[in-house]
Amino acid sequence: METSRSVTLTLTMGVAITLILMAIGGAWLADAQSSDKQIIVKKVKGQRVCDQGWECKGLSKFCCNETISDLFQTYQFENLFSKRNTPVAHAVGFWDYKSFITAAAIYQPLGFGTTGGKLMQMKEIAAFLGHVGCKTTCGYGVATGGPLAWGLCYNREMSPSQSYCDDSYKSDYPCAPGAEYYGRGAIPIYWNYNYGAAGEGIKEDLLNHPEYVEQNATIAFQAAIWRWMTPIKKGQPSSHEAFVGEWKPTKNDTLSKRVPGFGATMNIMYGEMVCGQGDIDPMNNIISHYLYYLDLMGVGREEAGPNEVLSCAEQAPFNPSTPKSASS
Ligand SMILES: *[C@@H]1O[C@H](CO)[C@@H](O)[C@H](O)[C@H]1NC(C)=O
Ligand SMILES: *[C@@H]1O[C@H](CO)[C@@H](O)[C@H](O)[C@H]1NC(C)=O
Ligand SMILES: *[C@@H]1O[C@H](CO)[C@@H](O)[C@H](O)[C@H]1NC(C)=O
Repeated sequence: METSRSVTLTLTMGVAITLILMAIGGAWLADAQSSDKQIIVKKVKGQRVCDQGWECKGLSKFCCNETISDLFQTYQFENLFSKRNTPVAHAVGFWDYKSFITAAAIYQPLGFGTTGGKLMQMKEIAAFLGHVGCKTTCGYGVATGGPLAWGLCYNREMSPSQSYCDDSYKSDYPCAPGAEYYGRGAIPIYWNYNYGAAGEGIKEDLLNHPEYVEQNATIAFQAAIWRWMTPIKKGQPSSHEAFVGEWKPTKNDTLSKRVPGFGATMNIMYGEMVCGQGDIDPMNNIISHYLYYLDLMGVGREEAGPNEVLSCAEQAPFNPSTPKSASS
């Protein structure tokens, strides 16, 4: 009892210190170094668990490690997405560091960017943002600064050709009258059923209000991190699990050349659109963003590992659109 009371007191002090820091510095997020933070450490059933306040809350083993804002700061975000606020970009003023960290805070106690130690943590941030950068870029060919400098240029599909309403999902995810389910977000969401599922995941009514994703960068990042952290199907790994190596491939996975690593995250997210087709551009573009970010973050692309883990050129998709049995 005594212990738990003193823990509560420490927590209150931690919050108070954070509030004071918030009051003092406008740039409080960038200033929230580990030295300013109150880390509460406890033992639960023999396991060390921690709480680091707003960014990593809830006594989790992952919160004993450094948090994302310790390892990845405002200037790094600005480096990675340096062109996003130039006048020709399509979401000027929308995306910012604070939205990313605020969204990430929900998932850090679950291991997002907090798994495996500093190198793995940096790599996971680069990997996740590599997907984001590639899916939101407007940098093609001879763009100034190079084609990779233009991530977070968009926050929505510009000229949707349809409203992406699939009526076969009407019992679970009926389309709201007038709603348009075109691509929006950091890892764009398309279709009513995907808005419905992501909305359930992040507890926002995205089925009735898909526009939230293009109006609020925190929600846009939350939905993207939710996608990264959540398996597409039961029994399959999430991109997070596949990337950090928490996923143990089955015999079928091994036969299908699916191994833990960045390649598997592309397989999970995009399947045969990107994977199992050899060395194609849609795959290489995602990989290029990841490697570019590893360099800019000071990790270095050589840490990405060999081609077998980085690429998915030879991997059979986790979820083929036409089941093999149907064609054989
Ligand atoms: C925290 O980081 C250490 C290395 O610094 C690592 O060994 C450990 O696995 C990490 N904790 C979790 C829960 O991933
Ligand atoms: C964006 O969404 C978050 C999460 O729901 C919310 O806390 C925040 O107030 C919203 N921001 C704006 C400007 O509406
Ligand atoms: C393994 O693959 C075979 C052939 O594709 C399939 O019939 C079987 O159901 C798979 N097993 C598992 C556990 O997924």
